[in-house]
Amino acid sequence: MSTVLIIGAGGVGRVVAHKCVQNSETFTKIILASRTLSRCEEIASELPSGTVHVESVDADITADVVELIKKVGADIVINVALPYQDLTIMDACLETNVPYLDTANYEHPDTAKFEYKEQWAKDSAFKEKNLMALLGSGFDPGATNMFCAYAQKHYFDEIHTIDILDCNAGDHGYPFATNFNPEINLREVSANGRYWENGEWIETKPLELHMPWDYPEVGIKESYLLYHEEMESLVKHIKGLKRIRFFMTFGESYLTHMRCLENVGMLRIDEVDHHGQKIIPIQFLKTLLPDPASLGPRTTGKTNIGIVAEGIKDGKPRKVYIYQIKDHEECYAEVKSQGVSYTTGVPAVIGAKLMVEGTWNMSGTINMEQLDPDPFMEEMNKQGLPWQVKEL
Ligand SMILES: NC(=O)c1ccc[n+]([C@@H]2O[C@H](COP(=O)([O-])OP(=O)(O)OC[C@H]3O[C@@H](n4cnc5c(N)ncnc54)[C@H](OP(=O)(O)O)[C@@H]3O)[C@@H](O)[C@H]2O)c1
Repeated sequence: MSTVLIIGAGGVGRVVAHKCVQNSETFTKIILASRTLSRCEEIASELPSGTVHVESVDADITADVVELIKKVGADIVINVALPYQDLTIMDACLETNVPYLDTANYEHPDTAKFEYKEQWAKDSAFKEKNLMALLGSGFDPGATNMFCAYAQKHYFDEIHTIDILDCNAGDHGYPFATNFNPEINLREVSANGRYWENGEWIETKPLELHMPWDYPEVGIKESYLLYHEEMESLVKHIKGLKRIRFFMTFGESYLTHMRCLENVGMLRIDEVDHHGQKIIPIQFLKTLLPDPASLGPRTTGKTNIGIVAEGIKDGKPRKVYIYQIKDHEECYAEVKSQGVSYTTGVPAVIGAKLMVEGTWNMSGTINMEQLDPDPFMEEMNKQGLPWQVKEL
């Protein structure tokens, strides 16, 4: 018996709500809360009547989240709002003694920089209350951290290099749209790249380094080096690691549009004066672009996200590729969402399930690879994200 409070009713929130209903033996009461109540109502109307209760909340205000947690009697909070709300929701969980889970690390709205520093700073507060805050239980971060932990546990004595390879070969038919929140997505992709080698972070210009990679069931795609948040925790927790990089594929049309928008100032995150009114260009752009949640019915193709780890087993070199392939149309048929939201929302529900069932039971702020990967990997196979391992 557990009551789950989902905060955020966007693309990912929809998948989380659908999947919690599918797991109703674990989540006996489901509440979906977001800033705009109508978005929660729309999602609830897709599910059997009475299975999802809706609430409105401004998660930027800790006191309001505290009040909601108490009102609904939540046993766990799944935060799938935006990274800007991570700290306020964590504080509300601390105040009400309720475990916390999210899929993206904290970002300040005024600085396009994401890091775990401020969330990790709450580690001792969560430990003192014997509470768990699971950070980054989406796909990447999330499943990718689990793939690394699984490789470490079952395939290697020591991992020396990891490449995380994220390919979305989906086609939504628009010349330009983002698969998740446009503001978060464009801030991430237009930022400088960064990877870690021999104990140091090496910075690159945006999209400066790239390589072709042959993604199983997708084909060869140019893949661009980005900074991605799971690397910050993996360098701490994977022993013997000498290098870690993150690559993501982008189509030519996406890159050309993004460069053009950047050149004309549409990706700016500071306020500009427009006919006496203050606007933030990237937020205005978000208003113009297709809502990621609307891409579901028109997206075809597959996602393929995985890791390639290289290292030593029993004194011999070894190279292993662990990956997951998901078809966008299959996702839409199941939960009315495209694959990017699906592959994020399902790991969030798996993480929450393992927490409320007590399989994962630690206290403090925990990154995924600190936990036993086996139950998570098993659940991935059951919950719609089957994965494969290939020796290279
Ligand atoms: N780890 C991964 O693999 C991964 C991949 C993709 C996305 N993500 C993360 O998943 C999260 C959700 O992404 P998404 O694509 O679902 O975004 P989205 O479609 O933009 O949805 C965000 C939702 O949060 C709500 N929200 C925003 N500010 C709020 C506030 N102050 N109080 C309450 N609700 C608020 C929005 O409400 P309104 O409708 O009122 O705006 C919206 O319903 C993001 O943090 C994103 O970074 C993680």
